[in-house]
Amino acid sequence: MRKDILHLRAPGNWINDPNGFIYYKGRYHLFYQYFPYAPVWGTMHWGHAVSDDLVHWEHLGIALFPTKAYDQNGVFSGSAVEKDGRLYLYYSAVRYLEVDDENIHVACENHFETSQAMIMSEDGYHFDNWKDKRKIIPVIRDRENGDATHTRDPKVWKDGEYYYMVLGSTYEEQTGRVLFFRSHDGTEWEYVNQCRSEQFGRILECPDLFAIDGRHVFVGSPMYVEGGGIQYPHHAKCGLVDYDASSCTMRLAEEMCLVDYGMDLYAPQTNIDRDGRRVMIAWMRMPKAVEEPGEKPWNGIMCLPRVVEVEDGHIFFRVHPEADRCFTREFFGNVSEFRKAGGKMPYRLKTTLEEGQRLDIGGYFLWVEDGTLKADRSRVYTGDEEGPVISRTPKTGDRCELDIFVDANLIETFVNGGQYVMSHIVYGLGDYVDGLVEHVYAYTACRETV
Ligand code: FRU
Repeated sequence: MRKDILHLRAPGNWINDPNGFIYYKGRYHLFYQYFPYAPVWGTMHWGHAVSDDLVHWEHLGIALFPTKAYDQNGVFSGSAVEKDGRLYLYYSAVRYLEVDDENIHVACENHFETSQAMIMSEDGYHFDNWKDKRKIIPVIRDRENGDATHTRDPKVWKDGEYYYMVLGSTYEEQTGRVLFFRSHDGTEWEYVNQCRSEQFGRILECPDLFAIDGRHVFVGSPMYVEGGGIQYPHHAKCGLVDYDASSCTMRLAEEMCLVDYGMDLYAPQTNIDRDGRRVMIAWMRMPKAVEEPGEKPWNGIMCLPRVVEVEDGHIFFRVHPEADRCFTREFFGNVSEFRKAGGKMPYRLKTTLEEGQRLDIGGYFLWVEDGTLKADRSRVYTGDEEGPVISRTPKTGDRCELDIFVDANLIETFVNGGQYVMSHIVYGLGDYVDGLVEHVYAYTACRETV
């Protein structure tokens, strides 16, 4: 099976959200939404990959697929916990009430219903899709407590004697909300509370809630956010919250921010890494498949693992140390020379941009204007030509130190050590960089690949 470096990408055909991301029995497991038949979204399976270091990924094929009446049209997103040495995977189970006659992989006009289910595995490698699945939360038909269609993406964690679950949902498809459930054993669940907010758009997807140094951080992907100055209607956001675990009461403590100031990052999921850090990984949406000779067309790639930290009330997304240490071999010279000398992607650039200075990374432009970092990817992108092409971060303060990871279809720029991150999908990048670059680093495999 294929191996990926740095960015896990679709092993052919289509992937979207990261699922069941966990460090389990000495290895990282990352599952993902997977449509194995074509490079478009369709009946969801969970693909599976493993890694020793979050950088080298080995694909293991399909782990979960529809087998039950309740999940016959899709094993949607969810998460993983370890219990008594076993791996418990939680997911949303989708059943269409009306299929599209011309494409059985989609429902007619959102005519589907969703329950929550789980599957247990003894070792994280074997999944009996017939025997070991179990429905845990039936379709929620009471509109006060949820929504029969749009209630999904269970994120489960353990805190003290309880397991907790958050679900993304909606109130009447007008206001996004988070539902809270609780369990003694990870199997029997009771509804506890909910939190509604205009900031959750009309439907909230992929909620996640965790504590860092005593502060609670909420991450979610609201759909159809009105106003707010963001470029796309669906965007991953994060914010500090006041949270009381005994009653599962959550209140947003501030205006939520974007997790990433580019246009493509969506559906992030976090968990604890080997060393106890909170690490986040997310799907980068792509408008079209990549077609390369000798490879199946593929659509969908994950961002770099990012460490989430809170400092002075601000949420940082930093380069994960495992990714950092793969780029310590410095090339003395400029990027064009580096590329001519056989230097391959991915590579890494470090520089500080002053107001008015511009960097042109093979057709992808970065510059500082009015104290914000801006990017224009229009020359290296063939997506929605109608949409806005320039992204910007909030004001970065009196400096703008950039740490840029350049891969064939993804550029990720960490500003001021993760104060903000701006990432973009790109196609057909040129081999040159114009502008002042202080350091160029080549990729070096610093661990044996899996
Ligand atoms: C987010 C999402 C989830 C859902 C999954 C389906 O991208 O829409 O809410 O579970 O993708 O593939």
